[in-house]
Amino acid sequence: DWNSGNVIAEQVERIRAQIGDARVICGLSGGVDSAVAAALVHEAVGDQLVCVFVDHGLLRADERRQVEEDYVAATGIRLVTVDAREQFLTALAGVTEPETKRKIIGREFIRTFEQAAADLVAEAADEGGSIDFLVQGTLYPDIVESGHGSGTATIKSHHNVGGLPDDLQFALVEPLRALFKDEVRAIGRELGLPAEIVNRQPFPGPGLGIRIIGEVTQERLDLLREADAIVRAELTAAGLDAEIWQCPVVLLADVRSVGVQGDGRTYGHPIVLRPVSSEDAMTADWTRLPYDVLARISNRITNEVAGVNRVVLDVTSKPPGTIEWE
Ligand code: XMP
Repeated sequence: DWNSGNVIAEQVERIRAQIGDARVICGLSGGVDSAVAAALVHEAVGDQLVCVFVDHGLLRADERRQVEEDYVAATGIRLVTVDAREQFLTALAGVTEPETKRKIIGREFIRTFEQAAADLVAEAADEGGSIDFLVQGTLYPDIVESGHGSGTATIKSHHNVGGLPDDLQFALVEPLRALFKDEVRAIGRELGLPAEIVNRQPFPGPGLGIRIIGEVTQERLDLLREADAIVRAELTAAGLDAEIWQCPVVLLADVRSVGVQGDGRTYGHPIVLRPVSSEDAMTADWTRLPYDVLARISNRITNEVAGVNRVVLDVTSKPPGTIEWE
C-alpha cells in the first residue's frame, strides 16, 4: 500500500546514499513541489542543504512571508532570499508582448538564481567545501510529459526553477520523480509543512507578470495583488478550493471603461476572473461559480481596489482559450 511515511523513509535513505556529506542547493518557488522536495532533502541531510528564494516582485500577497517565516519555522531550513524586485521591473519596463515578457522573466530568474548559487558555492569553498548537488521538484507527470512532447508547437514558453546553464554543474537530486501531485501533498503534510503551501493551487513561474495585460509596473502589480488576494480569500471562505483547479485574476491594464462610484464618474480598469476546472491543465472548462460568490468578489474588488470599476467573468474553455491570458 502507498503510505507517505514509508515513502519518506525510503527517500531519506536514498538521498543520504546519493549525497553523502556533500553540500546541496535548492531553488524554492513558493510552490508545493520545490517545498516538499527541499523538506525531504532537509530531513535527510539537514544543514548540508541551502535553499534560495528569488523574490521577483511578481509574487502574490503573502507568498514571500509564507516561505521566509512559516516554511522556515516548520522545517528549520537554511534560506537565502534574493530581493530582485527592482531588477525585474527594470527589465520589464516598456514590454507588452507576452512571449517577450516570459523570456525576460525566465532569463532574469535564471541569472539571479545562478548568481545566488555562485555566491553560495564561493562561500562553501571558503569553508573548505563545494556544492555539487541541486534539488529539483520534478514529478512523475513532468517526466512523462517531456517524453511525449516532441513535435508540438510551443504555445507558451513555460518556465520553472531549473533549466540552469551547463557551466554551473550540479548533479540532480529529484526525490519526487516517482510521485503524483496528490502524493506530494500527502508527504508535505506528513512532514508538517504549512497548509498554505501544501494546498497551493498551480501558479505560473512568471507570476503576476503574465496576468497584467499591458506593461508591468509597480502600481499595476500592487493593484492586481490586492484583487487576487480578495478572490483567493472569498473562494476559500466559500469552500471552493477543491472544486477549482486554479483561478487566475487578470488586470486589463490597457483597457478603461466608464463607471460611477460614490457620486462621481470613474474611468478605471477591468479585472477578469478566470476560474477553471481541470484534470491536468491540458484541457479545462470554466467553473460555474455560484452567483452569490461572484457577487461578493465583484463588490469587494470594486469597493476595495482603487482604479478598478468593473469585474468580468471569463467563460471560455481550454481550448480554445488557454488558462492564463498570456
Ligand atoms: P496555459 O495558460 O498554457 O497554462 O493553459 C497551463 C497551466 O500551466 C501554468 N503555467 C505555468 N506554469 N511556468 C509554470 O510553472 C509557466 O511559465 C507557466 N505558464 C502557465 C498555468 O497556470 C496553468 O496551470
